[in-house]
Amino acid sequence: MTSTDQPPLLSVKDLHVHFSTEDGVVKAVDGLSFDVQKGKTLGIVGESGSGKSVTNLSVLGLHDPDHTEIEGEILLDGQDLLAASERELERLRGSKMAMIFQDALASLSPYHTIGRQIGETFRKHTGASKREARARSVEMLTKVGIPQPDLRVDDYPHQFSGGMRQRAMIAMSLVCNPALLIADEPTTALDVTVQAQIMDLLKDLQQEFGMGIVFITHDLGVIADIADDVLVMYGGRCVERGTKKEVLRAPQHPYTWGLLGSMPSLKGPIDVPLSPIPGSPPSLLNPPTGCRFHPRCTFTEQVGGARCSTEQPPLELVAGRGAACHLTAEQRMDFFADFAAIRPH
Ligand SMILES: Nc1ncnc2c1ncn2[C@@H]1O[C@H](COP(=O)(O)OP(=O)(O)O)[C@@H](O)[C@H]1O
Ligand SMILES: [Mg+2]
Repeated sequence: MTSTDQPPLLSVKDLHVHFSTEDGVVKAVDGLSFDVQKGKTLGIVGESGSGKSVTNLSVLGLHDPDHTEIEGEILLDGQDLLAASERELERLRGSKMAMIFQDALASLSPYHTIGRQIGETFRKHTGASKREARARSVEMLTKVGIPQPDLRVDDYPHQFSGGMRQRAMIAMSLVCNPALLIADEPTTALDVTVQAQIMDLLKDLQQEFGMGIVFITHDLGVIADIADDVLVMYGGRCVERGTKKEVLRAPQHPYTWGLLGSMPSLKGPIDVPLSPIPGSPPSLLNPPTGCRFHPRCTFTEQVGGARCSTEQPPLELVAGRGAACHLTAEQRMDFFADFAAIRPH
């Protein structure tokens, strides 16, 4: 997203993901584009139901092809993932791209030891011997900060705490040194202290392994901690993009203002009154016309006429920075100044 000379590690262009269901077609992702650079973290943020997970399951090739229509382009290191066979995707998952999810218990098998699960992933992609795989498992458990790794390698997932299971899942996902890590709300279920530890761990491992990360969250506080670039998603579309500093310090879209206004200050005390965004995210079966945020937006009158409800605002990017909103740059400056004044500090 930021301009560099290197081609992006991951490039997603004009992605559309539609599901056919009994009730009709769910337009879960509608024209999304973004890049991820090697060694950098793109944070994708938005309320629940905005299409974050659907986007990333498309990258991983994990949608049921019978009910899913995917259009656009997804390139990983130049390789076209939408044209790749299931077998090739299977090979890439775990080796070149890996993922971690919110629920480590669901990702780990209860019937096998932690060491065996990490080791099997390693063996599958490298052809290493069982002995080598075990040594590698201990090495990875050490890297993710599991105490006494040479003993804990023989534990089953239920013998680990929630935070340790998350660490084990990270160890498993990184065992083949993937170029891309997709982290889908990996810390959402953890308490704040453990969450901070896992974030620190991911940052350390990124330094060491140099992987690009897509970090999905509904929490701008997490974005503030980990992201280099930010993509704000609403109703299956990108409403704002930029570097972390640009998006958090000078947000341009009313939805981002809403997200920022509804969270405790990133720096200040927690006991400030919060103002959640009124209403709820749209159904993607029949998404609102025009700007998908317009039914919840308090700025449609300033735009005037029926533009917000009839005309989709384009996302025009200058050096990777922009917002999809009909407000003029000048109006946004005014409103943002007001917003900044009332926003908790
Ligand atoms: N397999 C599916 N079939 C039909 N609709 C789906 C499917 N997966 C997700 N959706 C819908 O797509 C929308 C986006 O979901 P998701 O990407 O999971 O949101 P989130 O941003 O919370 O990760 C939601 O409205 C969800 O109900
Ligand atoms: Mg999700």
